[in-house]
Amino acid sequence: MADRVLITTDDLEQAVRVNASLEQAGFDTAMVSSLDDVRQAVRGRQPPPRPPDAVVLTGGLHESTAQRLLAAAREHAVSTLGLVEATDDDPNQIGRELGLTAWLVKPVDAGEVTATVRRLIDRRRLQQRTGILGESAAIQEVLVKIEQMAPVTSTVLIEGESGTGKELVARAIHDLSPRRGKAFIAVNAAGLPETLLESELFGHEKGAFTGAAERRLGRFELANGGTIFLDEVGEMPAATQVKLLRVLEDRSFFRVGGTQPIQVDVRVTAATNKSLKEAVALGTFRDDLFYRLNVLSIYLPPLRERRSDIPLLVRTFTAEFAKAHDRPFKGITPEALQILVDADWPGNVRQLRNLIESMVVLAPEGEIRSRDIPPDIREGSRGLPVRIETARTVAGQELEFIFRTLVELKMQLEDLRRRIEERPSERVEVIEVGGGSRLPEPDPLEATPEPEQPVIYKPGMSMSEVERAAIDAALRETHGNRRKAAETLGIGERTLYRKLKEYAID
Ligand SMILES: Nc1ncnc2c1ncn2[C@@H]1O[C@H](COP(=O)(O)OP(=O)(O)OP(=O)(O)O)[C@@H](O)[C@H]1O
Ligand SMILES: [Mg+2]
Repeated sequence: MADRVLITTDDLEQAVRVNASLEQAGFDTAMVSSLDDVRQAVRGRQPPPRPPDAVVLTGGLHESTAQRLLAAAREHAVSTLGLVEATDDDPNQIGRELGLTAWLVKPVDAGEVTATVRRLIDRRRLQQRTGILGESAAIQEVLVKIEQMAPVTSTVLIEGESGTGKELVARAIHDLSPRRGKAFIAVNAAGLPETLLESELFGHEKGAFTGAAERRLGRFELANGGTIFLDEVGEMPAATQVKLLRVLEDRSFFRVGGTQPIQVDVRVTAATNKSLKEAVALGTFRDDLFYRLNVLSIYLPPLRERRSDIPLLVRTFTAEFAKAHDRPFKGITPEALQILVDADWPGNVRQLRNLIESMVVLAPEGEIRSRDIPPDIREGSRGLPVRIETARTVAGQELEFIFRTLVELKMQLEDLRRRIEERPSERVEVIEVGGGSRLPEPDPLEATPEPEQPVIYKPGMSMSEVERAAIDAALRETHGNRRKAAETLGIGERTLYRKLKEYAID
């Protein structure tokens, strides 16, 4: 089906020429004269029956009507191209202020308009396919690079702070490449000791070291024909760096303990959230490896340097989570949105996304208001509990895991609260477990039916404390029957006995 383009007739002469050129290029076009027509058309309710893929505004950009049209277009993810008057002072500033996807200064050639429309529509498709949101020049540049880099096999180095979308970009490159049907394998180079990382990357032969009972294929072999993504490559130990350099040079390596070189066809993408150049200067990263990795490079700027993308991210994430959690959702107040636009976002898009999820889940009336935004966000970067760049151990995925646990907990609590409200006569106890405290013994007279006693995770609890609390709860539920408790917990009876001993539970 041909892509559909609407052309406003504010500058009729221009509109006629653009229309002819677009039609000739195979677009399905419609010229619309009044604002209402355009807004209806953007929504796609009235004929023309489906929303357009792009709108060309031929003039009247400063009219409030044009701004309302632009807002409707943004809401429906329709690209907009504005033709700016030559008499306007700073066309770039106007384009940005109005929130146009792209703009051209008059006089314009109708062919140029058509080529730009084509590009905008292709770009939008690419964003839908990759999930990379953003209208800022920085993100548009990233998208152009992804398109250029995807078809080749050269190594790509992706740099950017934590949560800026490095892995998203690496996946996009793979998904748009001829390798898309093959594996995309991510390996985190941080946090693993050298020997383990090497066995992870290159595999090992049976008996290569104590515990190597079987031959194991490494990530490079598993990624054969596809793409490997080396995350946090700047943290790679020196000895592993040498081995990686060899792979990049001749695409061959030895399994740990192996004598036969293994040849693979793997595209390498790598990411780092600290400057590799600096690491080279400090002597912690090999310069020859840096040049091998940095054949092609993409830099993802922090969110605070592309604030214009924040409203779109907020809108998209709220809609996504409202649907995922089946929450009725009205939206966000303009004041609350402004706070989010002005915030510092040291954790970048990940932090914003996670916050939106929790606010969508917890917003009392299905609307995010200023007071629903946590104080640390409202007050900018001051008083943040975690500084991402210094707290390496809780950065990235770990942070995400902790966050998810908290959101889940909040949701469980909310569910509980709802149940209490719905059935006031039913007794539901919320018991906090942690800090070594034991659960109170249930009153046998109250125990039929057993009230729900959820095991509550509290920030700061270790895995063993959570485990201990779960065992305690299972034993209480089964009135001390260890076989049943083990069954409930999904572990063997012997394991349960071992754990009882370990935690000195009697
Ligand atoms: N431009 C974007 N549009 C939509 N979602 C994004 C964008 N950038 C990042 N995200 C989302 O933010 C989260 C973090 O992204 P990702 O894991 O790619 O970041 P990262 O740079 O690899 O972070 P880290 O350095 O901590 O590993 C993901 O949920 C991702 O989908
Ligand atoms: Mg990552």
